[in-house]
This record gives sequence, structure tokens and C-alpha cells, in this order.
Amino acid sequence: MTRIVVVGSINMDLVTLAPRFVEPGETLTGDRFLTIPGGKGANQAVAAARLGAKVAMVGNIGDDAFGQQLYDGLKAEGIDVSHVTRVEGIGSGTASITVAGGENEIIVVPAANGRVTPAQVEAARDTIRGADALLVQLEIPLDAVDATLRIAQEEGVPVILNPAPAQRLPVEWLNRVRFLTPNQHELATVLGDAGETDFRELMRRAPCPVVLTRGAEGAWFRDTDDEPRHQAGFKVDAVDSTGAGDTFNAALAVYLAEGLDVAVRKACATAAIAVSRLGAQGGMPRADEVAAFLEKHA
Ligand code: RIB
Ligand code: NA
Repeated sequence: MTRIVVVGSINMDLVTLAPRFVEPGETLTGDRFLTIPGGKGANQAVAAARLGAKVAMVGNIGDDAFGQQLYDGLKAEGIDVSHVTRVEGIGSGTASITVAGGENEIIVVPAANGRVTPAQVEAARDTIRGADALLVQLEIPLDAVDATLRIAQEEGVPVILNPAPAQRLPVEWLNRVRFLTPNQHELATVLGDAGETDFRELMRRAPCPVVLTRGAEGAWFRDTDDEPRHQAGFKVDAVDSTGAGDTFNAALAVYLAEGLDVAVRKACATAAIAVSRLGAQGGMPRADEVAAFLEKHA
């Protein structure tokens, strides 16, 4: 069984379905409101678990009711939560999300996620050791991400770094990752190369292997010396793309042992299924659904 460790954020997503997005100063009547567990870290953990991996999560919840719900939700997915810490005196991370026309707008308040520490990651070293892959994103403090990259490298565990939300990163960090998984905007930001508009050129400039997501257009990937190669996206009716990137990252990690081409193809399929359903974690498929989808789209 593939063993995955995820270090990252855990949020409650407060999702409003609306006919369109609001203008400043405007009040609009929405169609529906849902609270759905989210956060890039937790989303990646849940997606990997649904695909059949043995997953451990490192992160924080707050001391509020959301925190308990988020913790119970991760446990119910079969995820090892022994390194999920409840922080006293602060709430859980939240994401206020509007979904309209298959697109979304998101405001994230990190709260307890902002208290993830290097020491907490160090405490999970025994769990990290022996993992097949480690997933990390940028919704937790950068010193904790830095510690994660260092510890994973010391333990010989390949890291998939999803640089979202976009931030400029030190070049030495990129030397420590097995794959960087940005979209075009994130890659330009990471490299401090906002002027470069050709994503393939950005991929060549990155000092590490890159798997770049292009939404409905699928993904481009470049391992050490290769020219960027393309995996076409799978056509689906977009319902909610929230967490599609997280689903993609999880699938990439879970299927990596089958080779990069196969893993990217399966990751595109897994993400496409997620986009056709409501909610980040709401839409994440199981391995058999991915297999059936690929058979249908072969
Ligand atoms: O990537 C999607 C996630 O970003 C949402 O679940 C939300 O919590 C934000 O963190
Ligand atoms: Na979805």
C-alpha cells in the first residue's frame, strides 16, 4: 500500500452557491449554503485516502466546533490524525467560498493553520520516514514548510510541493523537491519571473522537475532534462473546481510509482471527476471510479 504524508492546512469551507459573483456594496440572494471540510492540506490527504493510500496528516485545528468536525472527518476517511494538533485559544482555518457558474472566489483565514511549527513537523519525523511521498502546500507558515522539506530530504522521502497560494520561494527549496506542482501564475510567482508569459519557458527555467496544471487543458510535465510534455485534460461539465488542484496533487503522489506519464494522466482524470461534482472533498473519487472513468475515456 502506498504511504503518503501530508503537511498542511485544515479548513472549514463555507460555501455559498450563487447565480453570479457580487459587486462591491451589493447584496445578492444565493441558492444554497454548505459547510464542507477543506483546506489544501486536508483536501490532499482525503483525496489520497480515497484513492486507497495509507495517509497521515500533520496540521492544526482550532478549539472551536469546526475543529472537532474537521478532526472527526479526517478520521472517518481513515487518515492517521495523531499529528493533527488542537490549538487552544484560536479558531480553525476557514475559507469563505462563492461558487458561481462552475468558478469560485475564495477568502482564506488561516487561524490555527498559522500556528503550525517546525517542531510539530519534527515530531512527525518517524511518520515521515518510510513514506512513499510527502505532500506540502503554502497555507501554513513558511518556516514549517522549510522544516518539512529538510526533514523529508534527510529521510529520503520525495516531496511534491504545491506552491499555492502563490509565493516567491528560495531557490534552495526547489532543489529539495521531487516535483513542484504550480499553475502558470504560481510558477511565475515562485520564480519571481512575473514578466515571463510563456509557461513552457517558465518550466525550463525552474531548477526542479515541474508538473504544471492548466485547468481544462490538462497538465504539462518536465522531469530533470526533458522538454515539457503535455497530457490533455478530460472533458467534463464543470460544477465546482474548488480543490481540483489538491485532488490532482494527491493522485500524482499516489500513482507516481507507475511512472510520471501514467501518474499525470491519472491525476488529470481524478481532478476532472472532482470538478464535475460539488465541494472540494465532496467531489473526490475513489480509485475504482478513476479506473472506470479512464476506461470510458480511453
Ligand atoms: O484548494 C482549495 C482549498 O483552498 C479550499 O478547500 C479552501 O479551504 C482553500 O484552502
Ligand atoms: Na468539486
